[in-house]
Amino acid sequence: MSIFWSLWITVLSLACWGFILGALLFVMRTKPTLEDDGTTGHAYDGITEYDKPLPKWWVAIFFGSIVWALVYWVLWPALMPHTFKGLSTVELAGKTVPWTSHNELYSELERNDKVFTDNFKTNFLPNPQAHEQLAKLTSLQLKLQEAKEPPAGLKDDISKQIQGLAPYVTELSKNQKAYMAGERLFLQNCSVCHGSNAKGGVGYPNLTDNDWLYGGEPENILMTLHNGRIGGMAAWRDKLGEDGIRAAAEYVLSISGNQNGYELDKLKVAQGEAIFKQQCVVCHGPDAKGTHAAGAPNLTDKIWLYGGDRETVRETLRHGRAGVMPAWQSRLGNERIMLLAAYVSSFSGNAMKSTSTVAPAPATAPAPAPATEPAASAPTSTVSAPTTAVPDVTAQ
Ligand code: HEC
Ligand code: HEC
Repeated sequence: MSIFWSLWITVLSLACWGFILGALLFVMRTKPTLEDDGTTGHAYDGITEYDKPLPKWWVAIFFGSIVWALVYWVLWPALMPHTFKGLSTVELAGKTVPWTSHNELYSELERNDKVFTDNFKTNFLPNPQAHEQLAKLTSLQLKLQEAKEPPAGLKDDISKQIQGLAPYVTELSKNQKAYMAGERLFLQNCSVCHGSNAKGGVGYPNLTDNDWLYGGEPENILMTLHNGRIGGMAAWRDKLGEDGIRAAAEYVLSISGNQNGYELDKLKVAQGEAIFKQQCVVCHGPDAKGTHAAGAPNLTDKIWLYGGDRETVRETLRHGRAGVMPAWQSRLGNERIMLLAAYVSSFSGNAMKSTSTVAPAPATAPAPAPATEPAASAPTSTVSAPTTAVPDVTAQ
C-alpha cells in the first residue's frame, strides 16, 4: 500500500473518530437555558421540547463503541496500515499472514477449493493414478507460470499430460455425482454462450449433436476447455471479389444439399467448385467435411454455425468469422475441467446417458438452435464473439 493511501485511511479513521467523540462531549456539556415551565421553549407543530439527560445505557453504548474502535484499530489495520498490519491473521497457502480483505478472500477461496478437491478425490474420481496424473499436470503448469522463458517442449509436455487424462474423463462420466457437479459447473460457466441445454445458437456450437469443430473425443474436449479456441475463417472479399464470393457461396449451398430449395446458378456452382478446390480444402478438407485440426466445420451437412441461407453464407465468406471459446484452465482449474469434459462428452453418447433435465442429442442431429434462443444471443456484447459478425445474421 502506498503512503498516500495509508495516510488517507489513517486521517479518515482518526478524523471520524475524533468528530464523533467531540460531538458527543459537546452535546453533553451544552446546557440550554430553560423556560419557566421547564421546556427549552422550542416548539414544533405544537410539540414542546424538554431537556432531559440521555439515558445512561445509551451513553454507555455510545462510549463503548468509541472505545471499541480503538480495539478494532489494533486488531485490523487502520492506523498507518502500510507499516502496522494489525494483529488479526488468516491462513493462506499454508502460512499465517496478516489480515487484508484480499488475503481473507483468497483464504476463503482456498478453503472452498480444498473442500471441492477432497470431494473430487473421494466421491467423483476415487482413483489414485488419476490424482497422480493431475498433480503432475499441476506441477508442469506451475513451472510454466514461474518460468520467465518457458523451456522448450514444456508446452508440449503439458498438452500431452492433458490428453493423457482422457481415460479418466471417461471414468468420470460414468459417475452420477460427477455428472451432477459437471452440470452445475456448466450452468454457471458455459450456459451463457452454449445455452442451458448446451444446444448453442448462432456462432455458438451445439455441444449435443455429435458434430464437432475440434473433435468430440475426451482428449479434444479437454484441449478445447484448457486452452480455448479461436475459429479462423478468413475474410475473402478482397481476395475473391464479390463475384468469387457469390460463386463460392453457391457451391457451398449445392454441396450442403440446397436445404432452402434455391434455384442454383449452375455456372456459379462450377466456378465455386474451382475456387473451393484451390482455396478452401486446406481447412475444410477435399470432401468439404471439415477438419478438426483447423476447427473448420463440415459444409455438407444441415448443421450451421452461422447459418445456411444464401445471404448468411455470403456474409461468412465476405467478412470471415472468428468465434471465440475462452480458455478455462486458469479460471476453473484442472479438476473442474475434468468434470466439465465428462459432462460435455456424455451428451454425445461417450458415456452414461443423461438422467437429468438436459436431454441428450438424438442420433440424427437436429437443425441448429433458433436464433431466438435468448442465452445464445446474450453474450455477444460481453465477449469478443465473432469479431466480424454481421448484424443481420438472424435467418436460419
Ligand atoms: C464466451 C462464450 C463462451 C463460453 C462462456 C463458453 N464457450 Fe465453448 N465455445 C464458444 C464458441 C464461440 C465456440 C466455437 C469456437 C469456434 O468458432 O471456433 C466454442 C466451442 C466449444 C467447444 C468445441 C465444440 C466443437 O464443436 O468442437 C466445446 C467442447 C465447448 N465450447 C465447451 C464449453 C464449455 C464446457 C464451457 C464452459 C466451461 C464453454 N464452452 C464456455 C463460446 C463459449
Ligand atoms: C484457414 C482455414 C480456412 C479456410 C482457408 C477456409 N475456411 Fe471456412 N471456416 C474455417 C473455420 C475455422 C470456420 C469456423 C469459424 C468459426 O468457428 O468461427 C469456417 C467457417 C466457414 C463457413 C461457415 C459454416 C457454418 O456452419 O456457418 C463457411 C460457409 C465456410 N467456412 C466456407 C469456406 C469457403 C467457401 C472457403 C474458401 C473460399 C473457406 N471457408 C476457407 C476455416 C477456413
